[in-house]
Amino acid sequence: MKIFLDTADTNLIEKHYATGLIDGITTNPTLIKKSGRDPEDVYKQLIDLGIPDISMEVVGTQEQMLWEGRRLANKFGKNATIKVPCTPDGLDVCRQLSRSLVKVNVTLIFSASQAILAAKAGAKYVSPFVGRVDDNSFGGLCLVKEIASIFTKQNVFETEILAASIRGVRQVGRAFEYGAHICTIPPTIFDKMYNHILTEKGLEIFEKDFIASHENY
Ligand code: E4P
Repeated sequence: MKIFLDTADTNLIEKHYATGLIDGITTNPTLIKKSGRDPEDVYKQLIDLGIPDISMEVVGTQEQMLWEGRRLANKFGKNATIKVPCTPDGLDVCRQLSRSLVKVNVTLIFSASQAILAAKAGAKYVSPFVGRVDDNSFGGLCLVKEIASIFTKQNVFETEILAASIRGVRQVGRAFEYGAHICTIPPTIFDKMYNHILTEKGLEIFEKDFIASHENY
C-alpha cells in the first residue's frame, strides 16, 4: 500500500517526504507547467531528495516518446518511471521500454480494456483516472475495482494499479479497499488524511484531563 504525491512542487514534496509516509511522485505536463520550472530541474531535485520513484511523462510521436523515455531513463536511472498515454503509440513505447527493464506508468486509463492492454504491454503501473471518470458520470472507483478483479483472476502480478486523479480523502481509502496498490494524491488531500473531528475532540479532553490530573499531585 503505497502513497505517491501528485505534484511537481518540490517545496511541498520536500516537506511531505520528511513524514516518511510518501513512496513516490507522479508528475504530468500540466503539473510541471504549474511549477514554472524546467522538468529536468524538478526531476533532478527530487532525486537529490531521495525520492525512489518519479513518474516523468513523455508526449509526441511514437519515435519521440521512445527516444525521450530512453534518454530520461538513462539520465535518471532506477528512480525514473516513464509515463506514457494509453494509445497504440504509447503502448508500443511501453512494450519496448519494459523489455529494456525501464519502469513504465501507462496513464490516462479510463476503461478496464485499456488496463488489460497496458498490462500486456508490460506496464509497471496502470493509472485509472478516478476523478475524471467521475466527472463524466461514470464510477471512477468502480473502474479501480474492475481492474483489480481482472488482474487478480488473471494472475497479473507484475502490473500495479496506481489510482490517479483523486479528488478527496474518502476516495483514497476506497481505492485501496477496491484493490489499488498505490494512490497518487495532491498534497492537500494527503494533509487531510490525518484529520478527524473525533481525534481533535478526544485529544482536547485528554489534554485537559492530563493537566488536571497532574495539578492534583
Ligand atoms: C496522474 O498521474 C495524473 O497526474 C493526475 O492524477 C491527474 O489528476 P487530475 O485529473 O486531477 O488532473
